[in-house]
Amino acid sequence: MGFPVHRPRRLRRTGTIRRMVRETGLSANDLVYPLFVTKGKGVKKPIGAMPGVYQLSVDNALKEAAEACALGIPAVILFGLPASKDAVGSAAHDPGEAVQSAVRAIKDRCPELAVITDVCLCEYTDHGHCGVIAGGEILNDPTLEILARAAVSHAAAGADIVAPSDMMDGRVAALRGALDREGFDQVAILSYAAKYASAFYGPFREAAGSAPAFGDRCSYQMDPANRREALKEVEQDLAEGADLIMVKPALAYLDVIRAVKEMTRCPVAAYNVSGEYAMVKAAAANGWLDERRAVLEILLSIKRAGADIILTYHAKDAARWLAEA
Ligand code: PBG
Repeated sequence: MGFPVHRPRRLRRTGTIRRMVRETGLSANDLVYPLFVTKGKGVKKPIGAMPGVYQLSVDNALKEAAEACALGIPAVILFGLPASKDAVGSAAHDPGEAVQSAVRAIKDRCPELAVITDVCLCEYTDHGHCGVIAGGEILNDPTLEILARAAVSHAAAGADIVAPSDMMDGRVAALRGALDREGFDQVAILSYAAKYASAFYGPFREAAGSAPAFGDRCSYQMDPANRREALKEVEQDLAEGADLIMVKPALAYLDVIRAVKEMTRCPVAAYNVSGEYAMVKAAAANGWLDERRAVLEILLSIKRAGADIILTYHAKDAARWLAEA
């Protein structure tokens, strides 16, 4: 039976009724705030295509982390810009590097904030690829050992969660084995399990100084055309010991988030990446859309698709807006 017996508008008549029947909720608890950390003191270098995002020295990263914490955001994820780069990304596991220092500082000053670290080599290699190379190929197995050393150095600095984003095969098992051997069996792994070779990472590569010097990442990141393959990646990462699973990017992959959510009982994260952020910021700066409404709608849609956790550069703004609502 349809209209006129059924009138769906009855349940949209007032704000209170809409609130009663709302299916999806969004709160600061759902958000993770990414930070780019660099050496030095007093550094706050703006990133062109990401207004409101900066490369920060540890002192300033600490301020940002404290602010996020005060806004009720449960976690930050840290990316590092090393002092120097080489072919094998040695700085990735240097305990004196920016990420490791930032982890120690944040865990010292804001112990209740969960600290996640991105584990990858692209910020640390002089060629900008996520693994070591030989003859123009990105080598899988030799990369695993370096990634594992990086993860252990983050754990030793006090990271709660390590997040491998390199897309080498077998990296979750390699990290889990190394962490357990070194006494870090309580450090969780958030695997970027379904990470696509995406144009939407463009602004990030400026932020993290990690653009590949030759070629692209298509031999390790996933083909945007594939959905079933994402499920295979997730299955394998769970079998290797991942505690949390990520889909990335988020907006162009909402169907993948939903499919992953339906196949697993572990928490699902989605990364609302730099290009998604840049598009909203650019349109808002031109007065072409209402930033606050657009951001909250985007984050809600990622949640509705099935994400339990959303990594987003909008985190602080969103947390403020949600507190006002
Ligand atoms: C490192 C990494 C990337 C992002 C997160 N970790 C870039 C890439 O793979 O090229 C992208 C995040 C963003 O665009 O916001 N491998």
